[in-house]
Amino acid sequence: MKNIVITGGNRGIGLGLLNNLSKDHNVIITSRTEEKGLNAIRSIVQSPKKVDFVIMDVNKSESVIKGFAKIKEKFEHIDVLFNNAGILIPGLKFNISAVDTDEESILKTFNTNTIGVLRVTKQSVLLMKSGARIINISSGMGQLDDMGSGSLAYRLSKTALNALTKVMANELSERNISVNAICPGWVQTDMGGKDANLTINESVSKIISFALGHEFPTGKFLRHGEIIPW
Ligand SMILES: NC(=O)c1ccc[n+]([C@@H]2O[C@H](COP(=O)([O-])OP(=O)(O)OC[C@H]3O[C@@H](n4cnc5c(N)ncnc54)[C@H](OP(=O)(O)O)[C@@H]3O)[C@@H](O)[C@H]2O)c1
Repeated sequence: MKNIVITGGNRGIGLGLLNNLSKDHNVIITSRTEEKGLNAIRSIVQSPKKVDFVIMDVNKSESVIKGFAKIKEKFEHIDVLFNNAGILIPGLKFNISAVDTDEESILKTFNTNTIGVLRVTKQSVLLMKSGARIINISSGMGQLDDMGSGSLAYRLSKTALNALTKVMANELSERNISVNAICPGWVQTDMGGKDANLTINESVSKIISFALGHEFPTGKFLRHGEIIPW
């Protein structure tokens, strides 16, 4: 049984991970509010093992530090961290061009999707031992090899997250902590919309079989367990 932390676990892919992983593992999700955290925990179908939430806004260092102080009270160590919390500012979902994108949206998106992951990982590694795993939920929209257009803020934030993943994988290898970025596919969540081709359960089951699988590389970008180009 593993000790697992999922950021942004109150809805979408994070809640799907909680639902699935709580059947066999101890899981703590982070939520920005008490109400959302409680609702998520109460929504779990299966009888939970050890499931809880802590309040955390990944945009704020102080909130992340406070959240991890609570996690430390519940978990002696963390085996697996899912850096899942992320935003796609609604106005940027569509084809607003790079030159029409406002700077504030870019900075706001970076603060959550990129620096938020750094803030969380910084605290998490203090509770990690050799063999621990970090899964950064990135996106094909950050893939340089297949870069499209539109949604500039989101794309930049995820490309930078991929770079952060490589750097952290290099630096944490001496502690035998593995770090990978994954694309969950296009998923039916508030962010992905109802036209997405994967249900939350379909995406989450693939994420989990990779994240908890026997083979777990480090410093790679994967989709559905297959390595893809950066
Ligand atoms: N859905 C897709 O098709 C798709 C595709 C590729 C990648 N992804 C990535 O997958 C991850 C999950 O996406 P999703 O589709 O599940 O999105 P979602 O349904 O919009 O859920 C996003 C989650 O992140 C949380 N969050 C946002 N900002 C936060 C902050 N500052 N601090 C803490 N939590 C915060 C949200 O909390 P609140 O409820 O408080 O807002 C929510 O729990 C994201 O990183 C996303 O970029 C999704």
